[in-house]
Amino acid sequence: MSVHKDIALDEVRKFHQDTLPDGKFVPGTTEIWPAGAVLDESDRTALVEAALEMRIAAGPSSRKFESRFARKMGRRKAHLTNSGSSANLLAMTAFTSHLLEDRRLRPGDEVITVAAGFPTTVNPIIQNGLIPVFVDVELGTYNTTAARVAAAIGPRTRAIMIAHALGNPFEVAEIAQLAEDHDLFLVEDNCDAVGSTYDGQLTGTFGDLATVSFYPAHHLTMGEGGCVLTSNLALARIVESLRDWGRDCWCEPGETNKCLKRFKYQMGTLPEGYDHKYIFSHVGYNLKATDIQAALGLTQLEKLDTFVDARRRNWRRLRDGLEGVPHLVLPRATERSDPSWFGFALTVDPEAPFKRAELVDFLEDRKIGTRRLFAGNLTRHPAYIDQPHRIVGDLTNSDIITEQTFWVGVYPALTEEMIDYIASSVREFVAARG
Ligand SMILES: Cc1ncc(COP(=O)(O)O)c(C=O)c1O
Repeated sequence: MSVHKDIALDEVRKFHQDTLPDGKFVPGTTEIWPAGAVLDESDRTALVEAALEMRIAAGPSSRKFESRFARKMGRRKAHLTNSGSSANLLAMTAFTSHLLEDRRLRPGDEVITVAAGFPTTVNPIIQNGLIPVFVDVELGTYNTTAARVAAAIGPRTRAIMIAHALGNPFEVAEIAQLAEDHDLFLVEDNCDAVGSTYDGQLTGTFGDLATVSFYPAHHLTMGEGGCVLTSNLALARIVESLRDWGRDCWCEPGETNKCLKRFKYQMGTLPEGYDHKYIFSHVGYNLKATDIQAALGLTQLEKLDTFVDARRRNWRRLRDGLEGVPHLVLPRATERSDPSWFGFALTVDPEAPFKRAELVDFLEDRKIGTRRLFAGNLTRHPAYIDQPHRIVGDLTNSDIITEQTFWVGVYPALTEEMIDYIASSVREFVAARG
C-alpha cells in the first residue's frame, strides 16, 4: 500500500474522532431523529479509500458486496442498484421479459398490492402498463393478510408485490403459497425489513424476487443504493440485463470475452458474430451503483447484526414503555414473525379526545421526529386518482392510517434515554389530554 495512502487514511481516522458528538442527551433540545445513517470510523475510511483509488464506477467492491450480501440473505444472487426504487422497477420489469415466454406479464395484467405504503412499491406496476389491485391492511401490523390477497385474485392476476410494513413481515409464507397455487410471481419489497424473519426464515427469501434499499434511513446504507435478491438464476440474468442497459452479454463493463463466444453470436437480424457486448436483448436501463457506494455497503454489512439487535431492543423498550396508554393503537408484530423494525407506528383512535396533529406537534416541539406511514392511502394521491386500478373490499384502514397514524424512530443511534423520553412524552401528552 502507498505510504501516502496510509498517512491519508490515518488522518481520516483522526478527523473522524474530531467529528464525534459529545453524546450528551438534553431532553427537548437534542434531536431524536426517526431514522438516519449510523456511520463509524470504518465507514468513513472505506469511503475515502474508494475515492483515493478513484473507483468511481461499479467495480470490485460492488461485486464483493453483491456476493457477501447474497450470502448473508441466503439468496444465490444480489444485484446492486442505485436505489430501492430502482430495485423495485427492475423486479417488476423482469416479469415482462420475453425470456419468460408464456409466463411473461403483459400490459393489462393485474398485480396485487396494498393501498397504504410507499409509492415506489406500486409505481413499477403502473410503469410497466400493468394494473395495480389494491387491498387494505390491518391496523397494528400495518400489513395486509393472505385472506385479503386471496380475495383479490382474479382471472388477469399474474403477480403480487407487497412491502413488509415498517419492518414487520406480512404473512409471507401463506402469500407465497397462494402465489404458487395460482401461478403468480411474488416480489417482496424488503426495503424496510432486512433481518426480519417469518417462521424463522429471513424475509426476502420467500418471493421470486426481493428488493432492498440502502438509503440512509434503512438498516444498511450506501447513501443511495438498493439491490434485487433472488435464487432464480433465469430471473437474475434478466434483472442484470435490465439493470445494465438491456445488454445480452454478462461480462463486466471492463471485462471482455468471459463467455469465450464474444464474436460468435447471431441474434435478431444482426450480422453473424456481432460483438456480444453490444447486443441488446431487453429494453433496459442503467441502474447500477458505484464502487464508492459499495465500499460503504461492505463496512455497513459487518454491522448488520448489531444494527438489527439495536432496532429490536429499542422497539421492545418503547413498546413496554407505552403499554396501556389509552387512545392509541400500539404496534404489534405479525404472528410467527420476528421483525427487524424500521419504525414504531402509532395510530390515534379516531374517538380519542385529541387529534394526531396535536400529538405530533407536541412531540416535534420536543425534538422527537415523526413521520407518516409514507403515502397513507395511495389511491387518494393526485398521481394515482386517474390511473387504471382495481380496489378489492374497502380501504377503511388505509384511510384511518392516512388520517390517524404516524411513526417514531427505533434506529440504532437512539439511546435508552431517548427511547424513554419518547415514551414519557407520549404518556404525558395523553394524560393531560385524555
Ligand atoms: C417500502 C419501501 N420501498 C421502497 C423504498 C424506496 O427506496 P429508495 O429510497 O432507496 O428508492 C422505500 C424507501 O424508503 C420504502 O420504504
